[in-house]
Amino acid sequence: MEKKEKNIEWDENGTPIALRFDDPYYSKRDGRAESNHVFIQGNDLITRFEKTESLHTAELGFGTGLNFLETLNLWKKIAQKEAKLFYTSFELYPLDIADIQKALVPWPDLAKYFQPFEEQYAQQTGLPGFYELSHENVTLCLAIGDANQLVPKMTNKADAWYLDGFSPAKNPELWNEALMKAVYEKTSKGGTFATYSAAGWVRKMLEEAGFQVERIKGFAAKKHMSIGKKL
Ligand SMILES: C[S@@+](CC[C@H](N)C(=O)[O-])C[C@H]1O[C@@H](n2cnc3c(N)ncnc32)[C@H](O)[C@@H]1O
Repeated sequence: MEKKEKNIEWDENGTPIALRFDDPYYSKRDGRAESNHVFIQGNDLITRFEKTESLHTAELGFGTGLNFLETLNLWKKIAQKEAKLFYTSFELYPLDIADIQKALVPWPDLAKYFQPFEEQYAQQTGLPGFYELSHENVTLCLAIGDANQLVPKMTNKADAWYLDGFSPAKNPELWNEALMKAVYEKTSKGGTFATYSAAGWVRKMLEEAGFQVERIKGFAAKKHMSIGKKL
């Protein structure tokens, strides 16, 4: 049997670090609060959840599932009872269930929301392609493989994008013109994106892709982050 390459290590506070990228999966300070500030508020999702009957969120980098689960948590609290959440997430190096569970230890309320998806997740990981995992009104579409190849193959458009593929300096492959154009292409009219990156060249690239881009206050000590809209 092929020996699986070790891709994860844990720092002294239990934050998972991706060895391939030498970057944490989420903020060492408070991953959940970062998820809220950058991706949920950055896409104005609280207000949008209240109003909508269905919403499609897409994400570059499923990682530990923290963003998905925090989104689901707020969705369950805010959205109308019958509303449907569709969440597409791209992941080239899916983590094992055990690593996801370990990453979620600080947030047992979120870990609970992952349980109905665990068996379906375990069946799909490692095999390239789009896989729909579902529970109640929520569909998690896991796009396993390189986002550069898979985003253009999406058959639907997202209302909100989480650009979470590690820092552009650590993973330039997820921050290139062709991919940002594909993200724009696969955004519905009025749709948005959010990212912790405030790098000038990242903003320019997203502007050239077609988004109206804004720089706002970043999470915690970070001065800025970027958000944008497809008009
Ligand atoms: C910052 S982490 C994402 C954290 C995640 N959103 C969470 O809530 O835990 C970035 C993710 O992007 C994935 N990734 C890196 N390059 C990729 C690529 N070319 N295509 C798809 N996923 C990629 C990594 O494996 C990693 O899981």
